[in-house]
Amino acid sequence: MDSSYNVLLIGGGGREHAIAWKLKQSKHLGNLFITPGNPGTEQAGVNVKIDASNFDEVTGFCKEHQIDLVVVGPEAPLVDGIVDHLEENKIAAFGPKQSAAMLEGSKEFAKEFMLRYNIPTADFSAFSSDEFDDALSFVQSKDTYPIVLKADGLAGGKGVFICENEDEVKKRLNELKTGSAVSGAADRLVIEEFMEGEEASVFVISDGHTSHIIHNAQDHKRIGEGDTGLNTGGMGAYSPAPVLTEDLLEQVRQEIVEPTITGMQLDESAYSGILYVGLMITENGPKVVEYNCRFGDPECQVILPSLENDLLDLIVAAVEQRLDEVKIQLDSAYRCCVVLASEGYPEKYEKGKEITGIESATEESLIFHAGTRTKNGKLLTNGGRVLNVVGSGNTLKEAIDNAYAGAEKVHFDGCYFRRDIGHKGLQKV
Ligand code: AMP
Ligand code: GLY
Repeated sequence: MDSSYNVLLIGGGGREHAIAWKLKQSKHLGNLFITPGNPGTEQAGVNVKIDASNFDEVTGFCKEHQIDLVVVGPEAPLVDGIVDHLEENKIAAFGPKQSAAMLEGSKEFAKEFMLRYNIPTADFSAFSSDEFDDALSFVQSKDTYPIVLKADGLAGGKGVFICENEDEVKKRLNELKTGSAVSGAADRLVIEEFMEGEEASVFVISDGHTSHIIHNAQDHKRIGEGDTGLNTGGMGAYSPAPVLTEDLLEQVRQEIVEPTITGMQLDESAYSGILYVGLMITENGPKVVEYNCRFGDPECQVILPSLENDLLDLIVAAVEQRLDEVKIQLDSAYRCCVVLASEGYPEKYEKGKEITGIESATEESLIFHAGTRTKNGKLLTNGGRVLNVVGSGNTLKEAIDNAYAGAEKVHFDGCYFRRDIGHKGLQKV
């Protein structure tokens, strides 16, 4: 690559700050625009206001600003077909097309796909919204608890219910039926076997034909220490995850990643972009919990700092179907990300609290912005997940210690974070 690329990055969370930070290090980056971005992405490029759900507006901006490449952070525009739209307008975009993003956009699609290609996952059955009585009969006939109920469509992590008994199943089915739980996402429903084990995820880059595992990580989805309380977007992550041994990773590559990429190709929906494979490491080997069609947040914040490749070169190689020429290079450090959240999150919380201490926190950690904004020169909280503090080290323990040393230096009213990020990994090293 000897030219320079003008890039538009879509998204505005911690994941996008990490992507912008990494793109900024590329020697091939021309202008970088981010929409909507946040005060963190502004350190790497120019934040612009475009309605990313209005594809014509995105295309218009790209033409006006000679954008060579669009990088899409979150799932919603991908599932809605932004890549198809951009390509029809001769604008290169990194991410799966709509038909491939269905791996995240529909849980039933993903389960049927895995069944067809013999990719290990939990046993399941799918129902439409007017078959909820059949769904209940199915659960009654199984009579094994816990059992997992999932709304089919995108539900921002709120569409999965692990039910301990029949009463809970009835309650959840009713909520899904009336739309009070996840409106719109529950036109169809997947019911699946509960898998016992530890979770981890691998992040794959694919050009539709060739794929590479970039790295792996473990997320902490629950709000409370010891994995208790409500589900969130993710309260912290660490990488690599010691639960994924070399042998297991090889098994994941052979039994899950390669059949997924080949299967999508055979189905004429070649998967190009980042594929997030959520795994359960069960007694019977790794099984797929879910696919996502993008980087995880906050997993991205621990993975990109480990990547030694130029991210822009890697993305361009994927878009140009040249990933066979590329080798993924990682450093040997561990990384831990602690999410600083607003008190009350994932339920009601206040915004607009002044944030201080970021400068001194950067002595031992990297800080990515998630829900922040600036007003009159002050940095304020502007979301549930506010900041991501990433520590690195030669050992997992050192990475965790550095992340917490950074986290302790940041202050805002009602700042909450879990104190046990990475502890599960420590038990394994
Ligand atoms: P998903 O959105 O499908 O990733 O589900 C959210 C979370 O629910 C996962 O990260 C798991 O912790 C849990 N989960 C989902 N499906 C299962 C399953 N079949 N067995 C056990 N836990 C599950
Ligand atoms: N951290 C979980 C996700 O990005 O879906």
